[in-house]
Amino acid sequence: MFDKASVVIRDMDKLSFDYVPEKLVHREGQMSRLEMYFRPLAESGRPCYVLLTGNVGTGKTATAKRFCEDMARHCSRYGRPIDTIFVNCRNRNTEAGVILELIRHFDRGFPERGFSPDEMMRSFTAHIESGGVPVVIVLDEVDVLLKKSSVDLIYQLTRFSEVTRGRAGVSLILISQHLIYGMLDEASMSTFGRGNAVTFDKYTRGELYSIAKARAEEALIGGRYSDDVIELIADVSSEFGDARFAIELLRDSAVIAEGHPEGSIDTEDVREAKANINSVVTESKLTGLDMNRKLALLAIARSMKSNLYISITAAEKTYAVVCEEYGQEPRKHTQFWTYVQDMDRQNLLETVVRSEKEGGRSTYISLPDIPSKVLAKKLEALLEGKAAASSDEV
Ligand SMILES: Nc1ncnc2c1ncn2[C@@H]1O[C@H](COP(=O)(O)OP(=O)(O)OP(=O)(O)O)[C@@H](O)[C@H]1O
Ligand SMILES: [Mg+2]
Repeated sequence: MFDKASVVIRDMDKLSFDYVPEKLVHREGQMSRLEMYFRPLAESGRPCYVLLTGNVGTGKTATAKRFCEDMARHCSRYGRPIDTIFVNCRNRNTEAGVILELIRHFDRGFPERGFSPDEMMRSFTAHIESGGVPVVIVLDEVDVLLKKSSVDLIYQLTRFSEVTRGRAGVSLILISQHLIYGMLDEASMSTFGRGNAVTFDKYTRGELYSIAKARAEEALIGGRYSDDVIELIADVSSEFGDARFAIELLRDSAVIAEGHPEGSIDTEDVREAKANINSVVTESKLTGLDMNRKLALLAIARSMKSNLYISITAAEKTYAVVCEEYGQEPRKHTQFWTYVQDMDRQNLLETVVRSEKEGGRSTYISLPDIPSKVLAKKLEALLEGKAAASSDEV
């Protein structure tokens, strides 16, 4: 057991999602903006508030982690230590859940139940005060929390220094794929003014090439992959500008190649890895959808194009066109809305409620885990198989 040496992979850890490279290529701009925004904290302990937004796999989480680690190292070198707490709001998606995670940073055994959010907040405040060092809280995927209208927590965290009368500050980094201004209360909105935002654009093909190349050099055995492999990974992932997809391809191709007698990665392995990654993206969930939901989701995927999110009204318009194309009667608005909510529960899509400039609130839809083009193609293939048998259940 464990006696067979790897022939391609030198260090599997460096291909994991949690791994944050020492240097994030092509994110120097974002790192220096963060440095600029956090200067008041590093120099005089004053709290800072920044919002990071951008598409899937554009390095938001990795950059925030790298930045916090580098900043903590810098501050402790200058005798002004800081503490950082990282919470992923997808895992802890209620206000109480997030506060619990914050308290457990100080008190690992704090009980899951038995305390109200207010009591928990008081306990957290006491920890911050007695710690006496500035704390940076990173709320990753914060839109998931805000969707449940937990704006109060953000508000309380931004007003922390008033509560503790300046004795200990709490800085905040909020991370979201979507712009969240419309989801915050007015006071927090002014705290996270547009001036405090750092945006992450999709990576270009060239950038993905250098990200994949740097990771291969760190994680793989030299001479066991050709430049063509890296070129192909960059080609394939550039469709989405997503570094996670590039690294996933690199990892899976390497794992496939471990099984070859010749022990090196070739472009065929990358193609095989790509096919596998795409087929696990909710394939079984899609097959399980009935005809009406498939049509609704196809309409959403088609109208999404390169947008981060689309309004439910826009999706419904495309839905009517899609139904016509497949010879089906479109269902009424309330029914369409039920389909959307159903698919939200299954994580096939996400809905967010946003305030509109003209007043009022509307629902927007996003596709967090799958590129819209891929999803549309999959649904079209499934529907083509099914179009003849149109007697699917409602
Ligand atoms: N500039 C980069 N250099 C090296 N690796 C990177 C870079 N950007 C992203 N990565 C890697 O790509 C993967 C995805 O990045 P990350 O998790 O930071 O994306 P994200 O923007 O947070 O995506 P999501 O919105 O889905 O959470 C991670 O494994 C990360 O280490
Ligand atoms: Mg992330």
